[in-house]
Amino acid sequence: MRTIKEVDLTNKRVLLRADLDVPLNTKGDITDDSRLRAALPTIKYILEHGAKQLVIMGHIDRPKGRVVEMLRMDRVAVRLMKLLGRSVYKLDDCIGKGIPRGEKIILLENLRFHPEEEANDEGFAHQLAAYGDVYVNNAFATCHRAHASMHAITKFLPGCIGLQVEKELKSLDLNQMRKPIVALIGGAKLKTKIPLIQSLLVRADKVLIGGAMIFTFYAAQNLEIGKSLCDYNYVMNAKIMLNNEKLLLPKDIVIADYEDKQAGIRTVPYNKIPKKSIGLDIGEETVEVFKQELRRAETIIWNGPMGYYEKPPFDRATNELAKFIAELECNKVVGGGDTADAIHKLGLANKFTFISSGGGAALEVLSGKKLVALQALEEQAS
Ligand code: 3PG
Repeated sequence: MRTIKEVDLTNKRVLLRADLDVPLNTKGDITDDSRLRAALPTIKYILEHGAKQLVIMGHIDRPKGRVVEMLRMDRVAVRLMKLLGRSVYKLDDCIGKGIPRGEKIILLENLRFHPEEEANDEGFAHQLAAYGDVYVNNAFATCHRAHASMHAITKFLPGCIGLQVEKELKSLDLNQMRKPIVALIGGAKLKTKIPLIQSLLVRADKVLIGGAMIFTFYAAQNLEIGKSLCDYNYVMNAKIMLNNEKLLLPKDIVIADYEDKQAGIRTVPYNKIPKKSIGLDIGEETVEVFKQELRRAETIIWNGPMGYYEKPPFDRATNELAKFIAELECNKVVGGGDTADAIHKLGLANKFTFISSGGGAALEVLSGKKLVALQALEEQAS
């Protein structure tokens, strides 16, 4: 797979697929522009290496093939202008529009306003391809999607990866990480984390498990889990993983009344969860055990919150471990999504070695899977 550094951009029209999917509040304002900031080095690289024109394309959210006013790219254009200190000309559609001469940086409208984008439609990809001579995929967070601007487009333009994708692949490469590797894996649904845990049980030295998925592991041991979340369809997978001694489960759990989650809050041993309670966080004793394991790591991989962190006080373990890890000297890699969100909210982002800009995509890389959009680029190169 070619990187942008291997491509001559002189006098070329560069079509850049970027991660512009920024979180918005109810008024449509951007609440976190880290993805736009992550795109800046590649944008600057293109502009500094002789490109004739730069056309940027991306999506926001899931408008399901319709125009949704709030999901237009106007605010992204304004923020990019501010971050770049240059003018960005925004088109009000992503296909069928002429590009004004003399404009150096163009931003296309939300790709997902057209159903053809998610359908990986070749005709649509062909229309997008008309805007460039070279295609650069810098949208790491979308690389697990076979969408037209990510996949089909590689049939029509010579392509390469941008600096952000290159950095993500390097930082998330388990084979390049210093050992011992300790993984801290949380989240609600075991189903979505099985390939990740399986991959880490092979490559990491210890896998610490938190989040509501622990209850599926307890169910696999025939323990009472009360009203806690459980992926009953995956109890067998949990049973198999339990045989691996690298896996470490919590010893104590913070519970609350199922009907009123702000009532009956207390910590109990993992095998003493009452029938009418729900488990919502890992306990203090477990946090201390996890800290001891994390202290031994040369590399820490963290993916997924330890409890129901959106609702205090069930954010306690996640916050405490975030602060603890932030102070450690080792290589600290965070796999995007909710964990990245929690770390940003705590203002600790600069204390981590690498925070992935992609949730689902990072999960796939750490699970040892190939990202479908990058496979398309690889096929093109071979
Ligand atoms: C993300 O936010 O992870 C990417 O933009 C991909 O979004 P999607 O899950 O809607 O495809």
